[in-house]
Amino acid sequence: MKEHEIKINFNEYSSLEELDSEDRTLCAEAVKALATSHSPYSKFRVGVAMRLRSGKILHASNQENVAYPSGLCAERVALFHWGANHADDPIETMAVTAETDEFKLTQPVTSCGACLQVLAEYEKKQGTAIKMLLYCQGGPVWMATGVESFLPFLFFEDRLNHQ
Ligand code: THU
Repeated sequence: MKEHEIKINFNEYSSLEELDSEDRTLCAEAVKALATSHSPYSKFRVGVAMRLRSGKILHASNQENVAYPSGLCAERVALFHWGANHADDPIETMAVTAETDEFKLTQPVTSCGACLQVLAEYEKKQGTAIKMLLYCQGGPVWMATGVESFLPFLFFEDRLNHQ
């Protein structure tokens, strides 16, 4: 038996002021995207802003449905929109924020496994890692680059091939 250890690293900034102006702006754009959240069931709003290599910023938010599994997280709304419309313009940074009227969030929201799996596919497709900014309004920002910082054991395409 051999035990393995995987370490992941991320940076924590105590507030937006510690970020450079581009990243600060992107977090503010993610906050704006909260307004389009369709979340009558969870009452939990998630906003995303993605900065592309061209400088273009895309916005997205979580979209729920009365048939609950038909809804989609904000990150996948953003990523699939990018895949369908802007795939020739690589994603450099994705900012994610969340809020609810039910309680105060004190830590950033971290993306679910399904969103990370989709993120991984597009990192591979565009050939570069994506910087993630997980922003808690009035609280810290967590920053890490590349999906493997969040999900080291991904399902990769090469697993489908005979090795
Ligand atoms: N949600 C996201 O949009 N992104 C996340 O990272 C976590 C969860 C959404 C899904 C659902 O609409 C609501 O938040 C509650 O789970």
